[in-house]
Amino acid sequence: MKTLIICGSTHHGNTRKLCDAIAAAEPDVDLLEVGRGPIPWEGYGRVGFASGVAFGKLYPAITEAAQSIPAGKEVFFLYTCGKNSRDFSEQLADAVKARGCTVLGSYGCKGFDTYGPFKLIGGINKGHPDQAERDGAVAFYRGLKND
Ligand SMILES: Cc1cc2nc3c(=O)[nH]c(=O)nc-3n(C[C@H](O)[C@H](O)[C@H](O)COP(=O)(O)O)c2cc1C
Repeated sequence: MKTLIICGSTHHGNTRKLCDAIAAAEPDVDLLEVGRGPIPWEGYGRVGFASGVAFGKLYPAITEAAQSIPAGKEVFFLYTCGKNSRDFSEQLADAVKARGCTVLGSYGCKGFDTYGPFKLIGGINKGHPDQAERDGAVAFYRGLKND
């Protein structure tokens, strides 16, 4: 089954690093930067939504894309955030389930964050996602491949 990962990674390209690691390891994965034209839903049975977190949610452009997914897809989520305190994909997972898709799971980790006051101290989570976290994303993806 072919996989499309739709990625929004505007803050520092943190989430894109997870996507690139998966795409480099798995030839059946294509990447699309969200907002770069229409989403080719038809060619893919499995869709990943990958995003940074802003104000407790995945980015609006990713949310909008997920809310237009056709029924019948398998879906997973990838995210990076300043503080990995909970699963930030939960809300969107409910939305895609309501559209008739199956949610396979989510993978989240810390990402370099210079928002607001963190900028004054040079940011937090410098160097994240690191190699172990990128490897973790690949392992997460491989764990989904049991169809
Ligand atoms: C405007 C803004 C709001 C943010 N809000 C949150 C937040 O609510 N919770 C959190 O854990 N991180 C928050 N962050 C940190 C980002 O989620 C984190 O840096 C993430 O790795 C950025 O991903 P990206 O580089 O792929 O865009 C925020 C960052 C920005 C710029």
